[in-house]
This record gives sequence, structure tokens and C-alpha cells, in this order.
Amino acid sequence: MNARAWAAWIVAAVIIGVTLQARAASDPPAPAAPATALALATLPPVPIPAANAPNEAKLQLGRLLFFDARLSGDGSTSCASCHVPQHGWAHEDALARGYPGHRLWRNNPTVLNAAYATRLMWDGSLDSLEAQARAAMQAPVEGNGKGTMIEMRLRLVPAYRALFCRAFGDAWPQLDHAWQAIAAYERTLVSDARQVPLDRYLAGDRTALSASARRGLALFEGKAGCIQCHHGAMATDEGFHALGVPRQPLDDSHPLVQIAMRWQNAQRDASPALDRQGREDLGRWYATHDSADIGKFRTPTLRELKYTAPYMHNGVFATLREVVDFFDAGGGAAPHKSPLLRPLGLSQQDKLDLVAFLEAMSSDRPIVADAPRLPPIEPLGDAAACVPQTAGGASPAASTGLTAQRSVATRRP
Ligand code: HEC
Ligand code: HEC
Repeated sequence: MNARAWAAWIVAAVIIGVTLQARAASDPPAPAAPATALALATLPPVPIPAANAPNEAKLQLGRLLFFDARLSGDGSTSCASCHVPQHGWAHEDALARGYPGHRLWRNNPTVLNAAYATRLMWDGSLDSLEAQARAAMQAPVEGNGKGTMIEMRLRLVPAYRALFCRAFGDAWPQLDHAWQAIAAYERTLVSDARQVPLDRYLAGDRTALSASARRGLALFEGKAGCIQCHHGAMATDEGFHALGVPRQPLDDSHPLVQIAMRWQNAQRDASPALDRQGREDLGRWYATHDSADIGKFRTPTLRELKYTAPYMHNGVFATLREVVDFFDAGGGAAPHKSPLLRPLGLSQQDKLDLVAFLEAMSSDRPIVADAPRLPPIEPLGDAAACVPQTAGGASPAASTGLTAQRSVATRRP
């Protein structure tokens, strides 16, 4: 190359460089850019809080209590009434049924894999399964159970006395331990990687996903941009986004739904103006009281969706296809709508492929459990007190990392 040719080259290179730089400065950040760094993953071992290590008696107790409606005020409602094992541990209703005489304003999420979530509820307002179980059974619109009354009931079930003794060293069943037992049981309700096509695929079995699901995965990570919010082992950033999900028609037509929503607004200090203006779920705002969070909801896990319809915080979509159509249209309208949503221009085949991929994040067969036979309440009589077993010098209470029993523990019911 002669000198003129070199000079031309250098000029061209400078022009290209400047152009690229100018584009980089003026372009909005490309939504696909972080996608390379974000990925889906298989589930790690379940995180277990040190203060609530499981033991066999605790898990047995937790399973019974999850199905036991005697934890609710009128004995009608158990955790399993709303988190139905045969329905993906969620519920077929768009909006949850509440305590009799109520109707809730949100869809029942599944409890499957909730063990991995660090923010629970659609607005992320709770952060532990223990606190969640307590709230669920005592909230007036859900379990409506009065703590002292539930505790008395547990104390009059001989089989429960024996299990609380073995699990926690309780002389008499302690209510807080009921929530711990339920939470410990929930930590066993997780997907088994061997049963989930995506996990088998990620583990190296290239045949685990159908051709359609593989195309769906490519769309999910690429053109459709789902990975931006749905990544990691649970397919969620655990963040909060406003998507403009359509209004749930029951919000306008069902008086009990409106009552529950307005009650919620009053409980959580929504101003009358905000209450009147919205008449709808304020979402993340309830936890932060920051007006920028109105209408934002936690990105849910995408695991086990095959069994948990309907979808979204208000159950407004009956099928995964409807969800994909919604994202294809760029979401809906909302004041603080996420800038990550835009019309996707998906073809019919693209949509089928995305749905096939979403289904491949579910277990081949549903994870189910039969309702156990519940032990009866009996008159107290001359009940034997708990003699905590000692194993290697440690009482069961010590081995679960619990501190000394509260003084009430030794009192008779
Ligand atoms: C009346 C129906 C009802 C009952 C009874 C009920 N739940 Fe729920 N549960 C819901 C609804 C609705 C939500 C979501 C509420 C929200 O976001 O505000 C929920 C949320 C949860 C979550 C959070 C899941 C997530 O992904 O954030 C867990 C865990 C859970 N419930 C477990 C339980 C347990 C354990 C019990 C029994 C102690 C119970 N629930 C009783 C309806 C119910
Ligand atoms: C901006 C972040 C974001 C992006 C991008 C995104 N999602 Fe979501 N996704 C969410 C949030 C937040 C919700 C819950 C919204 C609500 O209920 O109001 C959700 C809900 C869902 C649900 C319902 C799950 C359930 O249990 O109800 C599915 C399915 C879903 N997304 C799939 C997808 C797919 C497929 C894509 C790509 C086409 C996608 N998402 C892109 C944040 C996002």
C-alpha cells in the first residue's frame, strides 16, 4: 500500500470511529445489551434459615398444619384452601377467595419454590415464609384466626402436643412454632431439577427441549427480551415493574373485591384521594409509599406455570398465550410503565415457541400431595407434659437453633 492509500485508510478509520462514538452517545441503551450477561439457571439447594432448621417431626407437623383449617377463625380455611396442591399449589380463581364473606383483590401465587424468594407477595411486602404464614392465618380477610385461640386449639390436639414436643421441645404448642413448622414444610415444596425440561437442558441434555422450546428460549433471551426481568434460577430479577396489566373486570363488578381493596388501602395508609383516584391495586406502593411505585409488581417466578393459571397479580390472563400476546403488544398503559417493554413483532410461530419454552420450565408431571388425615381435638384430661428428647446432649429446641422457650411454654393451656 502506498502513502495515499494509507492516508485514505486512516481517514476512513477515523470517520468510522467518530460515527460509532456518536451513535454510542446518542442511542438509548440497547435493551438487548445486558442480555448476554443474564442467564437462566438451575435451582441451587434450598436456603434454610439457621433459626429454623428442619427435623422430621417439624416437617410432619408443618404438613398437617398446612392442611388444617382449625388455624382459621371459623375452622373453614386452611393454607391448602387457597394454595391447592392439585392446582399447582395456587388456585383456579382469578382473585383469591378470602375468609368466608370476603373476596380478595389479588391472585393466589403458588407456594412451590417460594422457599427461594427473598421478597414475598405481589408487592414484596414480606420477606420470610415464617412471617408470611403468620400473616396469612391472622389477617381478617384471609384466615381470620386469633392467635391465642389458635394456640388453644393446637394444645387440645394430643397428636400436635406430641409433635410440638418432638419438633421444638415445647411443653405446650407455641403458636410461633406453628408458623415455623409450616415454613419448614414449604421449603420442601420445590421443583426437582430432574423433572424439569429446562433444568435437564441446562445440565447438558440437549434433547431435553423440543425444537420449538429451543426457539422459544432463543426468543426469550434475544428478540423478546424476557430475560431482562426474568433471569436466574427462579427466572426473576426480584424487582418491581409496572407493565400496565389490564384491569380485572371483577374490580368493577364485585362489591366484595372492592371492599377488600379499600380495606387494604385504609390498612396501608393510602390517602382518601389516592384511594378514590385508583380504586385499584397500588402494588409496590403499599410497601414503600413512594408514588413512583404505584402499579409496580414483583416479577414472579416462571417455574411451574403449566399448573398455576390464571396469571398476573390480578389473574386477568387465563392462558400463557394471552400473557405472550400482552408482551408482544408492548404491555399496556401505566403511569410508571417499564421502559423495557416495547412492541415485539412476534410471528404466530414465535408465540407458539415462547409458550412451549415457558411450559418447559415446569415439571413434567405436577407436584402434588394428598390432604393428610388430621388428628382430632380431644378434651384435655390429664395430659402428660413434654419431656424433650435429648440427642447427644442437645435438646430438640437447641438443635433447631431456637433460643430458650418463652416462659409461657411451661404453663398449661
Ligand atoms: C384466603 C386465601 C389464602 C389463604 C387461606 C392463604 N393464602 Fe397464601 N396467599 C394468598 C394470596 C392471595 C397471596 C398473595 C397476596 C398478596 O400478594 O398480597 C398469598 C401469598 C402467599 C405466599 C407468597 C408467595 C409468593 O410468591 O410471594 C406464600 C408463601 C403463601 N401465601 C403461603 C400461605 C400459607 C403457608 C398459608 C397458611 C398459613 C396461606 N398462604 C394461606 C391466598 C391465601
Ligand atoms: C420489565 C420487566 C419484564 C419483562 C421484560 C418481562 N416480564 Fe414477565 N413479568 C414481569 C412482571 C413485573 C410480572 C407481574 C406483573 C403483574 O402481575 O402486574 C410479569 C409476569 C409474567 C408472567 C405471569 C406469571 C404468573 O405467575 O402470573 C409470565 C408468564 C411472564 N411474565 C412471562 C414473560 C415473557 C414470556 C416475557 C418476554 C416476552 C416477559 N415476561 C417479559 C416483568 C417482566
